[in-house]
Amino acid sequence: MHIDIITVHPELLVSPFEHSIMKRAQDKGLLTVQVHDLRAFGHGRHQQVDDYQFGGGAGMVMMVEPLVACIEKLQSFRRFDEIIYLTPDGKRLNQGLTNQLSLKRNLLLICGHYKGIDERIREHFVTLEISIGDYVLSGGELPAAVLVDAIGRLLPGVLGDETSALFDSFQDNLLAPPVYTRPAEFRGWQVPEILMSGNFPKIEEWRHEQAYQRTTERRPDLLQKLDDQ
Ligand code: ADE
Repeated sequence: MHIDIITVHPELLVSPFEHSIMKRAQDKGLLTVQVHDLRAFGHGRHQQVDDYQFGGGAGMVMMVEPLVACIEKLQSFRRFDEIIYLTPDGKRLNQGLTNQLSLKRNLLLICGHYKGIDERIREHFVTLEISIGDYVLSGGELPAAVLVDAIGRLLPGVLGDETSALFDSFQDNLLAPPVYTRPAEFRGWQVPEILMSGNFPKIEEWRHEQAYQRTTERRPDLLQKLDDQ
């Protein structure tokens, strides 16, 4: 998969992809991420990319021309399956949407700043708008990093154990069960006996029960979705 990201703060998008699973995905050639500095497409000596909003009001708006120039340049190299604008008024990101996006080949992400981007970009270029939650961040860079991480780890071959993403929280609308590692006892706090029994069918059953119980307590809304399927 190839992901292009348009931003006015490319430096914010260096570190998230240089470590751990995202680095591995790129080293294995399963994911390429290219970050594009919108300022290179800005107007005049100051490479302006934002301006006052028509109608008045505080806050700047990202201008249509630099964004179109950048998007159209990238479109001359690739056909994008989705052009995604990260915005708090977008569709809320969840595992289902992440799974769908992990099946695409080329994605273009646009990070907004200030008051957002000129609406004409949303009308004429953007195919999908995504929010990572009901709170407002200062820009779309961290949401873009979240989205790339959530998608990247699902690409076949990225995770060591091929099946492990399938057992993540939310893949089956259940939260993950508790996990433990050595020592088996610490300050008198015991690891549940069943996990050391070697009886794998029983362990699976226990994990499922725990996942169900945890979901009932913390996220009963997810169980409702299970009933609706
Ligand atoms: N930009 C600012 N806040 C955001 C959010 N919650 N989700 C996606 N993009 C954003």
